[in-house]
Amino acid sequence: QASPNATPQRLPFSRISPEDLTFFRQLLPGRAITDPDMLESCNVDWLKSVRGNSEVLLRPKTTDEVSQILRYCNERNLAVNPQGGNTGLVGGSVPVFDEIVLSTALMNQVLTFDSVSGILTCQAGCVLETLSQYLEERDFIMPLDLGAKGSCHIGGNVSTNAGGLRLLRYGSLRGTVLGLEAVLADGKVLNCLSTLRKDNTGYDLKQLFIGSEGTLGIITAVSILCPRKPKAVNVAFLGCSSFEALLETFRCCRGRLGEILSAFEFLDAACMNLLVKHLKLSNPITESPFYIVIETAGSDAAHDEEKLHNFLEEVMTSSLVTDGTVATEEAKIKALWSLRERITEALTHDGYTYKYDISLPVEKIYQLVTDMREHLGDRAKNVVGYGHVGDGNLHLNITSPSKDPSLLAAIEPYVYEWTSSCQGSISAEHGLGLKKRNYIYYSKSSEAVGLMGDIKAMLDPKGILNPYKTLPDDLHS
Ligand code: FAD
Ligand code: MLT
Ligand code: ZN
Repeated sequence: QASPNATPQRLPFSRISPEDLTFFRQLLPGRAITDPDMLESCNVDWLKSVRGNSEVLLRPKTTDEVSQILRYCNERNLAVNPQGGNTGLVGGSVPVFDEIVLSTALMNQVLTFDSVSGILTCQAGCVLETLSQYLEERDFIMPLDLGAKGSCHIGGNVSTNAGGLRLLRYGSLRGTVLGLEAVLADGKVLNCLSTLRKDNTGYDLKQLFIGSEGTLGIITAVSILCPRKPKAVNVAFLGCSSFEALLETFRCCRGRLGEILSAFEFLDAACMNLLVKHLKLSNPITESPFYIVIETAGSDAAHDEEKLHNFLEEVMTSSLVTDGTVATEEAKIKALWSLRERITEALTHDGYTYKYDISLPVEKIYQLVTDMREHLGDRAKNVVGYGHVGDGNLHLNITSPSKDPSLLAAIEPYVYEWTSSCQGSISAEHGLGLKKRNYIYYSKSSEAVGLMGDIKAMLDPKGILNPYKTLPDDLHS
Protein backbone atom coordinates (compact mmCIF):
# COMPACT_ATOMS: atom_id res chain seq x y z
CA GLN A 1 0.00 0.00 0.00
CA ALA A 2 1.48 3.38 -1.08
CA SER A 3 1.79 6.12 1.55
CA PRO A 4 -1.02 8.70 1.29
CA ASN A 5 1.65 11.36 0.69
CA ALA A 6 3.51 9.47 -2.04
CA THR A 7 3.70 11.06 -5.48
CA PRO A 8 1.05 9.35 -7.61
CA GLN A 9 1.86 7.36 -10.75
CA ARG A 10 1.71 9.34 -13.99
CA LEU A 11 -1.55 8.42 -15.75
CA PRO A 12 -1.36 7.48 -19.44
CA PHE A 13 -1.98 10.94 -20.90
CA SER A 14 -0.41 11.85 -24.23
CA ARG A 15 2.85 13.78 -24.32
CA ILE A 16 2.97 17.15 -26.07
CA SER A 17 4.00 16.80 -29.72
CA PRO A 18 5.35 19.42 -32.16
CA GLU A 19 1.91 19.37 -33.86
CA ASP A 20 0.26 20.23 -30.54
CA LEU A 21 2.60 23.18 -30.12
CA THR A 22 1.81 24.38 -33.63
CA PHE A 23 -1.91 24.25 -32.81
CA PHE A 24 -1.48 26.21 -29.55
CA ARG A 25 0.80 28.81 -31.17
CA GLN A 26 -1.72 29.42 -33.93
CA LEU A 27 -4.59 29.72 -31.48
CA LEU A 28 -2.69 31.93 -29.00
CA PRO A 29 -0.05 33.93 -30.89
CA GLY A 30 2.72 34.88 -28.42
CA ARG A 31 0.71 33.35 -25.58
CA ALA A 32 1.73 29.69 -25.82
CA ILE A 33 4.88 29.80 -23.71
CA THR A 34 7.65 27.19 -23.78
CA ASP A 35 10.55 29.29 -22.45
CA PRO A 36 11.84 27.34 -19.39
CA ASP A 37 12.54 30.56 -17.43
CA MET A 38 8.94 31.68 -17.83
CA LEU A 39 7.67 28.21 -16.96
CA GLU A 40 9.68 28.01 -13.75
CA SER A 41 7.30 30.10 -11.61
CA CYS A 42 4.18 28.26 -12.74
CA ASN A 43 5.75 24.86 -11.99
CA VAL A 44 6.39 25.67 -8.31
CA ASP A 45 3.76 26.44 -5.67
CA TRP A 46 3.72 29.48 -3.37
CA LEU A 47 5.11 27.47 -0.46
CA LYS A 48 7.85 26.04 -2.71
CA SER A 49 6.83 22.64 -1.46
CA VAL A 50 5.77 20.93 -4.69
CA ARG A 51 7.17 21.12 -8.18
CA GLY A 52 5.88 20.02 -11.58
CA ASN A 53 7.55 19.69 -14.91
CA SER A 54 5.22 21.31 -17.42
CA GLU A 55 6.73 22.39 -20.72
CA VAL A 56 3.81 24.53 -21.90
CA LEU A 57 2.03 27.50 -20.41
CA LEU A 58 -1.09 28.72 -22.19
CA ARG A 59 -2.45 32.21 -21.56
CA PRO A 60 -5.91 32.56 -23.13
CA LYS A 61 -7.78 35.86 -23.05
CA THR A 62 -11.30 34.71 -23.86
CA THR A 63 -13.76 31.96 -22.97
CA ASP A 64 -13.76 30.86 -26.59
CA GLU A 65 -9.98 30.33 -26.47
CA VAL A 66 -10.34 28.26 -23.28
CA SER A 67 -13.03 26.24 -25.00
CA GLN A 68 -10.86 25.56 -28.05
CA ILE A 69 -7.91 24.58 -25.85
CA LEU A 70 -9.94 22.09 -23.83
CA ARG A 71 -11.70 20.60 -26.85
CA TYR A 72 -8.30 19.97 -28.42
CA CYS A 73 -6.71 18.60 -25.22
CA ASN A 74 -9.65 16.30 -24.60
CA GLU A 75 -9.42 14.86 -28.12
CA ARG A 76 -5.65 14.46 -27.80
CA ASN A 77 -5.83 13.14 -24.20
CA LEU A 78 -3.56 15.90 -22.90
CA ALA A 79 -3.82 16.73 -19.17
CA VAL A 80 -4.45 20.34 -18.12
CA ASN A 81 -3.67 22.18 -14.88
CA PRO A 82 -5.83 25.30 -14.40
CA GLN A 83 -3.90 28.04 -12.63
CA GLY A 84 -4.92 31.42 -11.19
CA GLY A 85 -2.55 33.38 -8.96
CA ASN A 86 -0.76 30.22 -7.80
CA THR A 87 -1.23 31.06 -4.13
CA GLY A 88 -2.98 27.78 -3.22
CA LEU A 89 -1.58 26.05 -0.15
CA VAL A 90 -2.33 22.38 -0.86
CA GLY A 91 -0.30 21.72 -3.99
CA GLY A 92 -3.36 21.94 -6.28
CA SER A 93 -2.24 24.81 -8.47
CA VAL A 94 0.89 23.35 -10.07
CA PRO A 95 1.37 20.33 -12.31
CA VAL A 96 2.54 17.04 -10.84
CA PHE A 97 4.16 15.84 -14.08
CA ASP A 98 3.95 17.49 -17.51
CA GLU A 99 0.34 18.73 -17.47
CA ILE A 100 -0.25 21.82 -19.59
CA VAL A 101 -0.65 24.91 -17.40
CA LEU A 102 -3.68 26.96 -18.41
CA SER A 103 -3.33 30.33 -16.73
CA THR A 104 -6.17 32.83 -16.32
CA ALA A 105 -3.72 35.73 -15.87
CA LEU A 106 -4.82 37.50 -19.09
CA MET A 107 -8.55 36.97 -18.44
CA ASN A 108 -8.65 40.05 -16.27
CA GLN A 109 -11.56 42.19 -17.47
CA VAL A 110 -14.44 43.50 -15.42
CA LEU A 111 -17.51 42.79 -17.56
CA THR A 112 -20.28 44.68 -15.75
CA PHE A 113 -20.98 46.32 -12.43
CA ASP A 114 -24.47 47.31 -11.27
CA SER A 115 -24.24 50.02 -8.64
CA VAL A 116 -27.85 49.49 -7.51
CA SER A 117 -27.68 45.75 -6.81
CA GLY A 118 -23.90 45.64 -6.13
CA ILE A 119 -23.48 42.76 -8.57
CA LEU A 120 -20.08 42.51 -10.24
CA THR A 121 -19.47 40.30 -13.25
CA CYS A 122 -15.87 39.74 -14.26
CA GLN A 123 -13.46 37.34 -15.92
CA ALA A 124 -11.87 34.68 -13.73
CA GLY A 125 -8.34 36.09 -13.87
CA CYS A 126 -9.10 39.41 -12.13
CA VAL A 127 -6.80 39.81 -9.14
CA LEU A 128 -8.79 40.07 -5.89
CA GLU A 129 -7.10 43.29 -4.76
CA THR A 130 -7.68 44.94 -8.16
CA LEU A 131 -11.37 44.09 -7.88
CA SER A 132 -11.42 45.50 -4.34
CA GLN A 133 -9.91 48.77 -5.58
CA TYR A 134 -12.35 48.92 -8.51
CA LEU A 135 -15.28 48.47 -6.12
CA GLU A 136 -14.04 50.85 -3.46
CA GLU A 137 -13.95 53.61 -6.05
CA ARG A 138 -17.66 52.89 -6.50
CA ASP A 139 -18.45 52.68 -2.77
CA PHE A 140 -18.63 48.88 -2.63
CA ILE A 141 -16.30 46.12 -1.40
CA MET A 142 -15.61 42.48 -2.25
CA PRO A 143 -17.34 40.06 0.13
CA LEU A 144 -14.03 38.28 0.74
CA ASP A 145 -10.57 39.35 1.81
CA LEU A 146 -7.42 37.30 2.31
CA GLY A 147 -3.70 37.75 2.84
CA ALA A 148 -3.01 36.61 -0.74
CA LYS A 149 -5.25 39.37 -2.22
CA GLY A 150 -2.40 40.97 -4.18
CA SER A 151 -1.86 37.81 -6.26
CA CYS A 152 -4.86 35.46 -6.09
CA HIS A 153 -7.49 35.53 -8.84
CA ILE A 154 -11.23 35.56 -8.27
CA GLY A 155 -11.47 32.34 -10.35
CA GLY A 156 -8.95 30.70 -8.01
CA ASN A 157 -10.88 31.97 -5.00
CA VAL A 158 -14.11 30.49 -6.33
CA SER A 159 -12.42 27.23 -7.37
CA THR A 160 -11.08 26.79 -3.83
CA ASN A 161 -14.15 28.32 -2.17
CA ALA A 162 -11.72 30.50 -0.26
CA GLY A 163 -12.93 31.69 3.13
CA GLY A 164 -10.65 34.40 4.46
CA LEU A 165 -11.07 37.22 6.92
CA ARG A 166 -14.60 38.43 6.23
CA LEU A 167 -16.54 35.17 6.02
CA LEU A 168 -17.98 35.73 9.49
CA ARG A 169 -19.80 38.80 8.19
CA TYR A 170 -20.53 38.19 4.52
CA GLY A 171 -20.72 34.40 4.38
CA SER A 172 -19.10 31.94 2.01
CA LEU A 173 -18.68 32.25 -1.75
CA ARG A 174 -21.36 29.55 -2.00
CA GLY A 175 -23.78 32.34 -1.07
CA THR A 176 -22.24 35.43 -2.64
CA VAL A 177 -21.38 33.93 -6.04
CA LEU A 178 -24.63 34.34 -7.95
CA GLY A 179 -23.47 32.81 -11.18
CA LEU A 180 -20.51 31.56 -13.13
CA GLU A 181 -19.37 30.49 -16.55
CA ALA A 182 -17.28 27.36 -16.83
CA VAL A 183 -15.72 25.45 -19.71
CA LEU A 184 -16.09 21.69 -19.41
CA ALA A 185 -13.39 19.16 -20.25
CA ASP A 186 -14.76 18.63 -23.79
CA GLY A 187 -14.78 22.36 -24.49
CA LYS A 188 -18.51 22.91 -23.95
CA VAL A 189 -19.22 26.34 -22.43
CA LEU A 190 -21.65 26.18 -19.52
CA ASN A 191 -23.26 29.56 -19.08
CA CYS A 192 -24.64 29.79 -15.53
CA LEU A 193 -23.68 33.45 -15.29
CA SER A 194 -26.91 34.46 -13.55
CA THR A 195 -27.10 37.76 -11.73
CA LEU A 196 -30.28 36.84 -9.89
CA ARG A 197 -30.40 36.56 -6.12
CA LYS A 198 -33.11 33.94 -6.34
CA ASP A 199 -33.25 31.14 -8.88
CA ASN A 200 -34.78 27.78 -7.97
CA THR A 201 -34.98 26.31 -11.44
CA GLY A 202 -33.72 22.88 -10.50
CA TYR A 203 -30.17 21.92 -9.54
CA ASP A 204 -27.82 24.74 -8.64
CA LEU A 205 -25.06 23.66 -11.04
CA LYS A 206 -22.66 26.50 -10.23
CA GLN A 207 -22.13 24.95 -6.78
CA LEU A 208 -20.39 22.00 -8.46
CA PHE A 209 -17.61 24.28 -9.64
CA ILE A 210 -17.28 26.28 -6.41
CA GLY A 211 -14.62 24.50 -4.37
CA SER A 212 -13.95 21.75 -6.94
CA GLU A 213 -10.34 22.96 -7.45
CA GLY A 214 -10.36 22.84 -11.23
CA THR A 215 -11.25 19.15 -11.44
CA LEU A 216 -14.68 19.58 -13.08
CA GLY A 217 -14.26 22.56 -15.37
CA ILE A 218 -12.39 25.80 -15.85
CA ILE A 219 -14.19 28.81 -14.44
CA THR A 220 -13.95 31.65 -16.96
CA ALA A 221 -16.24 34.29 -15.41
CA VAL A 222 -18.15 34.90 -12.21
CA SER A 223 -20.89 37.19 -10.97
CA ILE A 224 -20.70 38.09 -7.34
CA LEU A 225 -22.85 40.01 -4.90
CA CYS A 226 -20.84 42.79 -3.25
CA PRO A 227 -21.67 44.68 -0.06
CA ARG A 228 -21.66 48.48 0.27
CA LYS A 229 -18.42 49.97 1.52
CA PRO A 230 -18.80 50.56 5.26
CA LYS A 231 -18.58 54.22 6.30
CA ALA A 232 -16.80 53.43 9.56
CA VAL A 233 -14.20 50.74 10.22
CA ASN A 234 -12.50 50.07 13.57
CA VAL A 235 -9.91 47.45 14.39
CA ALA A 236 -9.06 46.33 17.93
CA PHE A 237 -5.97 44.28 18.73
CA LEU A 238 -6.36 42.66 22.15
CA GLY A 239 -4.41 40.32 24.43
CA CYS A 240 -5.89 37.43 26.42
CA SER A 241 -4.28 35.28 29.08
CA SER A 242 -5.99 32.01 28.09
CA PHE A 243 -7.94 30.49 25.21
CA GLU A 244 -10.97 30.16 27.52
CA ALA A 245 -10.83 33.93 28.08
CA LEU A 246 -10.56 34.41 24.32
CA LEU A 247 -13.71 32.34 23.74
CA GLU A 248 -15.56 34.25 26.43
CA THR A 249 -14.44 37.48 24.73
CA PHE A 250 -15.88 36.12 21.46
CA ARG A 251 -19.20 35.37 23.16
CA CYS A 252 -19.32 38.88 24.62
CA CYS A 253 -18.23 40.43 21.32
CA ARG A 254 -21.07 38.82 19.38
CA GLY A 255 -23.57 40.01 21.95
CA ARG A 256 -22.25 43.57 22.17
CA LEU A 257 -21.20 44.26 18.58
CA GLY A 258 -23.86 42.22 16.78
CA GLU A 259 -24.40 43.37 13.20
CA ILE A 260 -21.25 45.53 12.98
CA LEU A 261 -18.80 42.71 13.76
CA SER A 262 -16.91 41.89 10.54
CA ALA A 263 -13.97 39.76 11.77
CA PHE A 264 -12.84 37.91 14.87
CA GLU A 265 -9.39 36.38 14.30
CA PHE A 266 -6.74 35.03 16.63
CA LEU A 267 -3.04 34.24 16.84
CA ASP A 268 -1.02 32.72 19.64
CA ALA A 269 2.21 33.96 21.25
CA ALA A 270 4.28 31.61 19.04
CA CYS A 271 2.93 33.40 15.92
CA MET A 272 3.79 36.78 17.42
CA ASN A 273 7.35 35.59 18.06
CA LEU A 274 7.71 34.64 14.38
CA LEU A 275 6.31 37.99 13.19
CA VAL A 276 8.78 39.85 15.39
CA LYS A 277 11.73 37.60 14.61
CA HIS A 278 11.36 37.11 10.85
CA LEU A 279 9.41 40.17 9.64
CA LYS A 280 10.59 42.66 12.27
CA LEU A 281 7.02 43.67 13.06
CA SER A 282 6.45 45.03 16.52
CA ASN A 283 3.90 43.89 19.04
CA PRO A 284 1.70 46.93 19.79
CA ILE A 285 0.55 45.65 23.20
CA THR A 286 1.94 43.79 26.22
CA GLU A 287 3.03 40.21 25.53
CA SER A 288 0.17 37.74 26.00
CA PRO A 289 -0.43 34.03 25.35
CA PHE A 290 -3.18 34.92 22.83
CA TYR A 291 -4.05 37.88 20.62
CA ILE A 292 -7.34 38.80 18.96
CA VAL A 293 -8.03 40.99 15.93
CA ILE A 294 -11.58 42.33 15.93
CA GLU A 295 -12.94 44.43 13.09
CA THR A 296 -16.17 46.37 13.06
CA ALA A 297 -17.68 47.74 9.87
CA GLY A 298 -20.78 49.87 9.97
CA SER A 299 -22.55 52.93 8.66
CA ASP A 300 -22.43 55.27 11.66
CA ALA A 301 -19.02 56.04 13.20
CA ALA A 302 -20.38 57.43 16.49
CA HIS A 303 -22.75 54.50 16.99
CA ASP A 304 -20.04 51.93 16.14
CA GLU A 305 -17.50 53.57 18.45
CA GLU A 306 -19.97 53.59 21.29
CA LYS A 307 -20.69 49.90 20.82
CA LEU A 308 -16.99 49.08 20.62
CA HIS A 309 -16.29 51.19 23.70
CA ASN A 310 -18.98 49.37 25.73
CA PHE A 311 -17.64 45.99 24.61
CA LEU A 312 -14.05 46.92 25.47
CA GLU A 313 -15.08 48.26 28.85
CA GLU A 314 -16.83 45.00 29.68
CA VAL A 315 -13.95 42.71 28.64
CA MET A 316 -11.30 44.87 30.30
CA THR A 317 -13.12 45.28 33.62
CA SER A 318 -13.84 41.55 33.77
CA SER A 319 -10.13 40.90 32.93
CA LEU A 320 -11.02 38.74 29.93
CA VAL A 321 -8.75 41.05 27.97
CA THR A 322 -5.47 42.10 29.55
CA ASP A 323 -4.34 44.83 27.12
CA GLY A 324 -5.41 46.28 23.81
CA THR A 325 -5.21 49.01 21.20
CA VAL A 326 -7.81 50.37 18.77
CA ALA A 327 -7.36 51.88 15.29
CA THR A 328 -9.75 53.96 13.25
CA GLU A 329 -7.33 55.49 10.74
CA GLU A 330 -6.32 53.49 7.68
CA ALA A 331 -2.56 53.23 8.25
CA LYS A 332 -2.93 51.88 11.77
CA ILE A 333 -5.75 49.54 10.71
CA LYS A 334 -3.42 48.13 8.05
CA ALA A 335 -0.56 47.74 10.53
CA LEU A 336 -2.76 45.84 13.00
CA TRP A 337 -4.16 43.60 10.25
CA SER A 338 -0.67 42.74 9.02
CA LEU A 339 -0.01 41.06 12.38
CA ARG A 340 -2.66 38.54 11.41
CA GLU A 341 -2.32 38.48 7.59
CA ARG A 342 1.46 38.06 7.46
CA ILE A 343 1.76 34.99 9.68
CA THR A 344 1.79 32.73 6.59
CA GLU A 345 4.76 34.68 5.24
CA ALA A 346 6.57 34.68 8.62
CA LEU A 347 6.26 30.90 8.76
CA THR A 348 8.04 30.49 5.42
CA HIS A 349 11.10 32.15 6.99
CA ASP A 350 11.05 29.74 9.89
CA GLY A 351 11.75 26.62 7.87
CA TYR A 352 9.76 23.94 6.09
CA THR A 353 6.11 24.36 7.11
CA TYR A 354 3.57 21.58 7.59
CA LYS A 355 0.19 23.31 7.23
CA TYR A 356 -3.15 22.12 8.57
CA ASP A 357 -6.44 23.90 8.02
CA ILE A 358 -8.98 22.37 10.34
CA SER A 359 -12.69 22.99 11.08
CA LEU A 360 -13.72 22.10 14.61
CA PRO A 361 -16.36 23.05 17.16
CA VAL A 362 -14.96 26.42 18.22
CA GLU A 363 -14.37 25.46 21.86
CA LYS A 364 -12.00 22.67 20.71
CA ILE A 365 -9.81 24.57 18.27
CA TYR A 366 -6.85 25.34 20.51
CA GLN A 367 -6.81 21.95 22.23
CA LEU A 368 -5.43 20.48 19.00
CA VAL A 369 -2.45 22.86 19.11
CA THR A 370 -1.74 22.02 22.74
CA ASP A 371 -2.04 18.28 22.13
CA MET A 372 0.16 18.47 19.04
CA ARG A 373 2.87 20.36 20.94
CA GLU A 374 2.88 17.70 23.60
CA HIS A 375 2.75 14.89 21.05
CA LEU A 376 5.73 16.20 19.05
CA GLY A 377 7.88 17.40 21.95
CA ASP A 378 11.18 18.78 20.65
CA ARG A 379 10.87 17.08 17.26
CA ALA A 380 9.25 20.24 15.86
CA LYS A 381 10.91 23.64 15.66
CA ASN A 382 7.65 25.53 16.26
CA VAL A 383 4.00 24.53 16.61
CA VAL A 384 1.73 27.54 16.13
CA GLY A 385 -2.00 28.21 16.03
CA TYR A 386 -3.95 31.04 14.41
CA GLY A 387 -7.11 31.38 12.41
CA HIS A 388 -10.69 32.34 12.02
CA VAL A 389 -12.26 31.88 15.46
CA GLY A 390 -15.59 33.21 14.23
CA ASP A 391 -15.76 30.33 11.71
CA GLY A 392 -14.37 27.56 13.97
CA ASN A 393 -11.35 27.35 11.65
CA LEU A 394 -7.91 26.64 13.09
CA HIS A 395 -4.65 26.99 11.15
CA LEU A 396 -2.21 24.64 12.84
CA ASN A 397 1.30 25.02 11.44
CA ILE A 398 4.40 23.09 12.35
CA THR A 399 7.88 24.14 11.25
CA SER A 400 11.09 22.22 10.99
CA PRO A 401 14.56 23.30 9.77
CA SER A 402 14.04 21.26 6.59
CA LYS A 403 11.65 18.70 5.11
CA ASP A 404 11.54 15.88 7.65
CA PRO A 405 9.74 12.60 6.82
CA SER A 406 9.95 11.34 10.41
CA LEU A 407 8.33 14.53 11.69
CA LEU A 408 5.62 14.18 9.04
CA ALA A 409 5.01 10.59 10.16
CA ALA A 410 4.53 11.86 13.70
CA ILE A 411 2.04 14.53 12.58
CA GLU A 412 -0.04 12.47 10.14
CA PRO A 413 -2.36 10.67 10.58
CA TYR A 414 -2.42 11.87 14.22
CA VAL A 415 -3.80 15.30 13.21
CA TYR A 416 -6.48 13.75 10.99
CA GLU A 417 -7.53 11.16 13.55
CA TRP A 418 -7.80 13.88 16.18
CA THR A 419 -9.94 16.00 13.85
CA SER A 420 -12.15 13.13 12.81
CA SER A 421 -12.77 12.12 16.43
CA CYS A 422 -14.38 15.55 16.90
CA GLN A 423 -16.34 15.31 13.61
CA GLY A 424 -14.20 18.14 12.26
CA SER A 425 -13.10 18.78 8.68
CA ILE A 426 -9.51 18.12 7.58
CA SER A 427 -9.78 21.05 5.15
CA ALA A 428 -11.84 24.01 6.25
CA GLU A 429 -10.98 26.42 3.43
CA HIS A 430 -7.80 25.53 1.50
CA GLY A 431 -9.13 22.45 -0.32
CA LEU A 432 -7.44 19.06 -0.77
CA GLY A 433 -5.23 19.61 -3.81
CA LEU A 434 -2.39 17.12 -4.15
CA LYS A 435 -1.33 17.09 -0.51
CA LYS A 436 -4.56 16.14 1.23
CA ARG A 437 -6.37 14.13 -1.44
CA ASN A 438 -5.90 10.75 0.20
CA TYR A 439 -7.10 11.97 3.59
CA ILE A 440 -10.59 12.82 2.34
CA TYR A 441 -12.10 9.77 4.07
CA TYR A 442 -11.43 11.33 7.48
CA SER A 443 -14.12 13.90 6.66
CA LYS A 444 -16.37 12.27 4.03
CA SER A 445 -18.10 8.93 3.85
CA SER A 446 -17.05 6.44 1.17
CA GLU A 447 -20.52 6.86 -0.41
CA ALA A 448 -19.97 10.61 -0.68
CA VAL A 449 -16.48 10.18 -2.13
CA GLY A 450 -17.86 7.57 -4.56
CA LEU A 451 -20.47 10.07 -5.78
CA MET A 452 -17.74 12.67 -6.25
CA GLY A 453 -15.98 10.12 -8.46
CA ASP A 454 -19.19 9.55 -10.47
CA ILE A 455 -19.62 13.31 -11.03
CA LYS A 456 -15.98 13.59 -12.11
CA ALA A 457 -16.39 10.67 -14.53
CA MET A 458 -19.52 12.25 -16.03
CA LEU A 459 -18.07 15.74 -16.53
CA ASP A 460 -14.50 14.74 -17.38
CA PRO A 461 -14.55 11.12 -18.61
CA LYS A 462 -10.88 11.14 -19.64
CA GLY A 463 -9.82 12.79 -16.38
CA ILE A 464 -7.77 15.48 -18.14
CA LEU A 465 -8.69 18.30 -15.73
CA ASN A 466 -6.27 18.75 -12.84
CA PRO A 467 -5.45 15.05 -12.47
CA TYR A 468 -3.99 13.73 -9.17
CA LYS A 469 -5.82 16.45 -7.21
CA THR A 470 -8.76 16.54 -4.79
CA LEU A 471 -10.00 13.00 -5.50
CA PRO A 472 -8.20 10.15 -3.71
CA ASP A 473 -5.91 7.83 -5.66
CA ASP A 474 -8.15 4.80 -5.08
CA LEU A 475 -10.79 6.33 -7.37
CA HIS A 476 -8.34 6.08 -10.28
CA SER A 477 -7.46 2.44 -9.70
P1 FAD B 1 -4.40 28.97 -7.55
O1 FAD B 1 -3.51 28.81 -6.39
O2 FAD B 1 -3.78 29.30 -8.83
O3 FAD B 1 -5.29 27.65 -7.72
C1 FAD B 1 -5.96 27.07 -6.65
C2 FAD B 1 -6.77 25.88 -7.16
O4 FAD B 1 -7.84 26.33 -7.99
C3 FAD B 1 -5.99 24.91 -8.02
O5 FAD B 1 -6.49 23.62 -7.81
C4 FAD B 1 -6.27 25.38 -9.44
O6 FAD B 1 -6.14 24.32 -10.38
C5 FAD B 1 -7.69 25.85 -9.33
N1 FAD B 1 -8.05 26.97 -10.20
C6 FAD B 1 -7.49 28.20 -10.22
N2 FAD B 1 -8.14 28.98 -11.10
C7 FAD B 1 -9.12 28.23 -11.64
C8 FAD B 1 -10.14 28.47 -12.60
N3 FAD B 1 -10.30 29.66 -13.18
N4 FAD B 1 -10.99 27.46 -12.91
C9 FAD B 1 -10.85 26.24 -12.32
N5 FAD B 1 -9.91 25.96 -11.42
C10 FAD B 1 -9.06 26.95 -11.07
N6 FAD B 1 -7.30 30.67 1.52
C11 FAD B 1 -8.41 30.86 2.26
O7 FAD B 1 -9.40 30.16 2.05
N7 FAD B 1 -8.46 31.81 3.23
C12 FAD B 1 -7.41 32.61 3.51
O8 FAD B 1 -7.48 33.45 4.40
C13 FAD B 1 -6.23 32.44 2.74
N8 FAD B 1 -5.17 33.24 2.95
C14 FAD B 1 -4.03 33.02 2.24
C15 FAD B 1 -2.94 33.84 2.50
C16 FAD B 1 -1.74 33.66 1.82
C17 FAD B 1 -0.56 34.53 2.13
C18 FAD B 1 -1.66 32.63 0.83
C19 FAD B 1 -0.40 32.42 0.07
C20 FAD B 1 -2.76 31.83 0.55
C21 FAD B 1 -3.95 31.99 1.25
N9 FAD B 1 -5.08 31.20 1.01
C22 FAD B 1 -6.22 31.42 1.74
C23 FAD B 1 -5.06 30.08 0.05
C24 FAD B 1 -6.10 30.23 -1.04
O9 FAD B 1 -6.57 29.02 -1.55
C25 FAD B 1 -5.73 31.13 -2.15
O10 FAD B 1 -5.01 32.22 -1.81
C26 FAD B 1 -6.75 31.47 -3.23
O11 FAD B 1 -8.10 31.19 -3.07
C27 FAD B 1 -6.27 30.75 -4.46
O12 FAD B 1 -6.43 31.58 -5.55
P2 FAD B 1 -5.38 31.54 -6.75
O13 FAD B 1 -5.92 32.41 -7.82
O14 FAD B 1 -4.03 31.81 -6.28
O15 FAD B 1 -5.53 30.01 -7.21
C1 MLT C 1 -4.88 32.53 6.74
O1 MLT C 1 -5.98 32.52 7.30
O2 MLT C 1 -3.95 33.26 7.11
C2 MLT C 1 -4.70 31.67 5.54
O3 MLT C 1 -5.67 30.71 5.38
C3 MLT C 1 -3.33 31.24 5.20
C4 MLT C 1 -2.74 30.24 6.13
O4 MLT C 1 -3.44 29.35 6.59
O5 MLT C 1 -1.54 30.33 6.40
ZN1 ZN D 1 -7.34 31.09 6.68
